[in-house]
Order: sequence, then C-alpha cells, then structure tokens
Amino acid sequence: MEENESEIPQQILLGEAYWDARYKDNTAAWDIGYVSPPMKTYIDSLTNKELEILIPGCGNTYEAEYLLQLGFRHITVIDIAPTVVEKLQVKFAGNACIQIVCGDFFAHEGQYDLILEQTFFCALPPEMRPRYVAKMHQLLKEDATLAGVLFNRSFVDGPPFGGSQEEYEALFNNVFHSISMWPCDHSIVPRANSELIFECRKNNQVAVHLYSFWGITSKGCMTSVTNTLKEIDGVLNVHMNATYSEVMIVCASVPDLQKLQDAIADDADYHIEKIM
Ligand SMILES: C[S@@+](CC[C@H](N)C(=O)[O-])C[C@H]1O[C@@H](n2cnc3c(N)ncnc32)[C@H](O)[C@@H]1O
Repeated sequence: MEENESEIPQQILLGEAYWDARYKDNTAAWDIGYVSPPMKTYIDSLTNKELEILIPGCGNTYEAEYLLQLGFRHITVIDIAPTVVEKLQVKFAGNACIQIVCGDFFAHEGQYDLILEQTFFCALPPEMRPRYVAKMHQLLKEDATLAGVLFNRSFVDGPPFGGSQEEYEALFNNVFHSISMWPCDHSIVPRANSELIFECRKNNQVAVHLYSFWGITSKGCMTSVTNTLKEIDGVLNVHMNATYSEVMIVCASVPDLQKLQDAIADDADYHIEKIM
C-alpha cells in the first residue's frame, strides 16, 4: 500500500481500476474456469426458465453460461471491470437471452425474480455490507429470491473478505425472510469447509433505507446508537457498517428522518442523512 493510501476509503481503492487491472494482468485468482459446484447444484434446482435473473460482480460468469445452456432466457450480468465485460460482449454476441452491463452494481436499476451471489459479496469492502443488503432489497421483485454462496471463514487481508453465518443472519434479519443457510459439502478443494449456501426471500412488508452517519468514534458509541435507533417504534433492524459511516435501518414503514435525528440528538456530533 502507498504511504497515504491508508486514508483512502476501501470503497475507492477497490473500484473499477483495481478490478480491471486484475483482469488485464491475468491475476483473477478467484476465477475457477467453470460454474462452481454449489452454484451448479442450486441452478439445477430451478425449474422456471422465465425467471428474470441478475448476477452481480459476474466476472467471466460461467453461471450465466450454464443458465443459458439450460434454457433460461432472461439473464442480466453486471461487472464494473470493462476488460471482462468486453470479453463477455464478444462471447455472448447476438444472444438475446443475456444482457451484459458494464457498471457499478450499486447504481444499477432493475427488478429481478432471482439474484445469484457468487464471490461478489466477499469482494466488497466490509463497510459496504449494509449497502449491499439494502441494494439487494431494492432490486428484488415482491417475494423474489437472493441465493448463492458466502464464505464461512475469515481472511487475513482482503479481498476476499470473510464472515460467518451469525454475522450474515444478523445483517439479513427482517430484510429477508425464510432465510436458509447451511455449510456447503461440495465446494472446490481450495474452498472446502469454508463456504455456506444460502437462499432467502425479500420481505415485502418493510422499508429498507441506508443513511450516512457522522460522529461515532468508538465501538461503544456505535452499540449505544444502534440500540437507541432500535427502540424507535416500528424499527426492526439497525445495522451499522464497520467504519460507522453508514447505517441500514429496516422499518415497518418509511422512517421519519426527523425522528431518527431526534433520537440521536443527545450528542451534538451525531448526524444522519439518507443515502437510499
Ligand atoms: C472476486 S470477483 C468474482 C467474479 C465472479 N463472480 C467469479 O466468481 O468468478 C468480484 C467481481 O466483482 C466485480 N465488482 C467489484 N465491485 C463491483 C461493483 N461495485 N459493481 C459491479 N461489479 C463489481 C469485480 O470486477 C469482479 O469481477
């Protein structure tokens, strides 16, 4: 890392330039060259070929290739790295069953029946996790499904960034329902005993919003602010990110920003503003 890079948020360091360079330099070590066995099993369980499916952070998207082979007709893949997207555009040229988007998942608009997670979540800086969950909720149609594979281990440095079932369940709580998550027994050898398969459905009964937060300087303050926000009538889940700069609030109805601001007004340094 360069001397002053420590001050640059990871969200910027791990942006388009970083990922594109990995494809340009052929250092995409995560690319296994075929559809991952747990994803293949999950895809094999799908029967409705009319599903509108999104694969974010798709890379070389062997999953989409497999879905096409099986006859799925409404697939969208998105990646921020132009080099890999250009490759996909050549590979799938003229195929109307797949839309290939070059861009940032967090700016993507659409509505999907199914979103497939395959080493995208773990590629994002951990402070983006509440943002990922809020965005997934936004992109899913009513009762739609988010499913895929997550790491069940930690890493010294990332990406990939690891996590645990407990952490993911706390993050997904109330945003999704019917959450099933279980250890994967047929991972590729380097990922053996370190993956979870999961499936969950969009909770249509809640509003999920993301806010910028200023003023928290310690884990203790974060816990206290989180608890205060959870006490507000109708609030079902509050998840602050790892750098205390963003908070996801899940509510039975659209939360009143003034109410949120009043709840944290005891500390003059605290400030909250809606992102999405
Ligand atoms: C670890 S790779 C996984 C690629 C692919 N899913 C696979 O399993 O081979 C993460 C991918 O996410 C892409 N990516 C990272 N941030 C992104 C963002 N904000 N929006 C869209 N794609 C992103 C990267 O370019 C990269 O292709």
